[in-house]
Amino acid sequence: MNRHEPAGRDPRPVDPHGPRPQGHCPDGGGPRGAGPHGAGPHGAGIGLRRGLLSGMHDLPDTALDFIEVAPENWIGVGGRFGRQFEALVERFPLVCHGLSLSLGGPAPLDIALLEDVRAFLDRYGACCFTEHLSACSDDQGHLYDLMPIPFTDEAVRHVAGRIRRAQDVLERRIGIEPVSYYAAPGQEMRELEFVNAVLREADCDLLLDVNNIYVNSVNFGYDPFEYLHGIDGARTVYVHIAGHYVEAPDLFIDTHGAPIVEPVWALLDAAYARWGALPTLVERDFNFPPMEDLLGEVARVRRLQSGAQARDPGGARTAGV
Ligand SMILES: [Fe+2]
Repeated sequence: MNRHEPAGRDPRPVDPHGPRPQGHCPDGGGPRGAGPHGAGPHGAGIGLRRGLLSGMHDLPDTALDFIEVAPENWIGVGGRFGRQFEALVERFPLVCHGLSLSLGGPAPLDIALLEDVRAFLDRYGACCFTEHLSACSDDQGHLYDLMPIPFTDEAVRHVAGRIRRAQDVLERRIGIEPVSYYAAPGQEMRELEFVNAVLREADCDLLLDVNNIYVNSVNFGYDPFEYLHGIDGARTVYVHIAGHYVEAPDLFIDTHGAPIVEPVWALLDAAYARWGALPTLVERDFNFPPMEDLLGEVARVRRLQSGAQARDPGGARTAGV
């Protein structure tokens, strides 16, 4: 379960429509979208969080192939944070991962937010945009947590229509991330059937989070490898990998606050074996370790990507490593 970072807006905001710094997505970014359908990231990266800003500032350019931010946390941010952000975006290709579109929610889509996000993506030359396959708001406001969508035909049509509308406003394809969840209300089909139906009906891309698959497989008692092989992974823009908290043997919580565990690394390698060395981002949202520990996880991602390329040099996707 992901949560918003505090907005911490600076009193001297940046004009989102102002001049664009040097973005340098490997394939140029832009309206075609990402991954299997156009521009996208390559290699291995880390999510940029406020708590990691200073550590990432000191990294050499070769340390990361891309970084990820939530646009909502950076739109209009100026001052010291804004300058640090822009310095990083000039050095590392950027992907954007939204937090608050509430694609599965009942309230009307926030078109003003989508337009601000589009301006942000254009301004910084973002490689791609992804969002969660979840709901996080209703007519009463934001919940600041990512709630599951009922796995029903009606919900497939509802969320797919909203994804298509979001893609129209953003003027690019988007990737959706199936989330970790802890209750499945109104379930008429399996999660896997639901996810694939949404991908097909919306004709959008996929953000494949292997930790979410693992956490959900423990909490709901299914085989994570069977799920992985059933998902429409050819649509993958990039992969998330993260750590979680073990509350009980049958209850894991997706915290992004711990080291990545071996079963999740095994799922990542299985995804590479199936779809090639997909670009992969290490997510760490709190309980930050020394930067060298995170770079150790990035290095392991790169080793697995190199191994996948060595096994299948002509694989469907390459990581640019
Ligand atoms: Fe994720």
